[in-house]
Amino acid sequence: MNKHEEFGLKDKHLVKHFSYINGSWHSSETQISVTNPANGNVIAKVSNAGSVETELAVKAAKDALTMWSDKSANERAVLLRNWFNLMMENQDDLGRILTLEQGKPLAEAKGEIAYGAAFIEWFAEEGKRVYGDTIPGPSNDKRIIVVKEPVGVVASITPWNFPNAMIARKAAAALAAGCTFVARPATETPLSALAMAELAERAGIPAGVFNVVVGDDARAMGSVLTQHPDVAKFTFTGSTPVGKTLISQCATTVKKVSMELGGNAPFIVFNDADIDSAVQGAIQSKYRNAGQTCVCTNRIFVQQDVLKAFTEKFSNAVAQLTIGEGLTDGVNIGPMISSKAVAGVDKLVSESIAAGAKLLLGGKRDKSGDNFYQPTILTDVTNDMPIAKNEIFGPVSPIISFENEAEVIAMANDTEYGLAAYFYARDIGRIWRVAAALEYGMIGINEGLISNAAAPFGGVKQSGNGREGSKYGLDDYLEIKYLCMGGLDQ
Ligand code: SIN
Repeated sequence: MNKHEEFGLKDKHLVKHFSYINGSWHSSETQISVTNPANGNVIAKVSNAGSVETELAVKAAKDALTMWSDKSANERAVLLRNWFNLMMENQDDLGRILTLEQGKPLAEAKGEIAYGAAFIEWFAEEGKRVYGDTIPGPSNDKRIIVVKEPVGVVASITPWNFPNAMIARKAAAALAAGCTFVARPATETPLSALAMAELAERAGIPAGVFNVVVGDDARAMGSVLTQHPDVAKFTFTGSTPVGKTLISQCATTVKKVSMELGGNAPFIVFNDADIDSAVQGAIQSKYRNAGQTCVCTNRIFVQQDVLKAFTEKFSNAVAQLTIGEGLTDGVNIGPMISSKAVAGVDKLVSESIAAGAKLLLGGKRDKSGDNFYQPTILTDVTNDMPIAKNEIFGPVSPIISFENEAEVIAMANDTEYGLAAYFYARDIGRIWRVAAALEYGMIGINEGLISNAAAPFGGVKQSGNGREGSKYGLDDYLEIKYLCMGGLDQ
């Protein structure tokens, strides 16, 4: 059986084995193996690019910049729209590639393709609305004019948890703004990024505008992308510690940066909440991608009067989740990305049990394989336990009880993170108070799924800066230029 039959694709040419630089596929001397996290099987070998290829990609992006930024917003929109159409036409194949390299269930993987494509569609349109301003000058002979221009070459480093959408929401905004782009996807999940490059080429996006470099030397490639003088902007999605290092590297050339970093999302259920909808929201926001998203619920706070009812209904719902390999019908929870990631989650669970938490459900590796962890619920958790202090990034729900609003707000905000928060309540006064008091960039109110192309995704505090998606998402790829026009009364 050859590799493509194993993938089961309609279009085998979507599986690429080389970096995509300046419109061509580049081989390197060594290769990296891409494995299926569900079973450890090698599904593809991809050329292992390093700093040399990364420099070539930056050069290609720089050389293509004037040609691309000189195009009208409309011309760019047509090409982006083609890219969007091709992504959706190939949604089944792209979903299979994504499941095989990342592990998430196929329905979720196809959902990610639609989610990623939605950013391309959104920014294809939004790029036409890059408005400036005219401002009355300080005297009658002057006018102040504000225009917006593309920042230039943009470089990105993206994670394995959303191999398609994290690239799409950065690249789409950058390209729509008139910037050119170099993507460095996670070593674990290069195939989705390379398939996007293949479709960008088919869409007619010119050589050098969208480049993808794949390699395992994150440090060397990252150094080029964060320190090359021709890169004007650097954008990263990943952990807060790595983000801090990358920001400091970007400081050497004073790059514009946007950072989408870690989270420790509180999910608060007040006494007046609709419990069934809170349970549904908690399942969605906790167990999406086996708990491996930055906006996943990390701590569930439940007010005492509804603690019993919520916990019972929630544990019944979690017990229904089916764990298994992502291509199997009906699976809700796929593997985690690695055995090391499973060990990290298991350690948080056992340390918290040792500190007094009680195990209600799960709590161990699953028989499905080394990378599978059972959907888990811990009760009697306190906000100072390891499971509450750390970003779990796995399918574990710690439940913490609380008495009143002030107490829960203090606990929810007691973290260096500030990405997403969720709460369920019906009292309108409480809804406004709590929304204002939570120190987070995004808040789901009676809603567990908040990510979409029309909304500004991003955090405060050590969860990062900048926004992705929405009309605000373009600003990160634009510079403001002020023109002072004088001598108007002569
Ligand atoms: C992330 O985990 O970084 C992104 C999650 C999302 O876009 O919803």
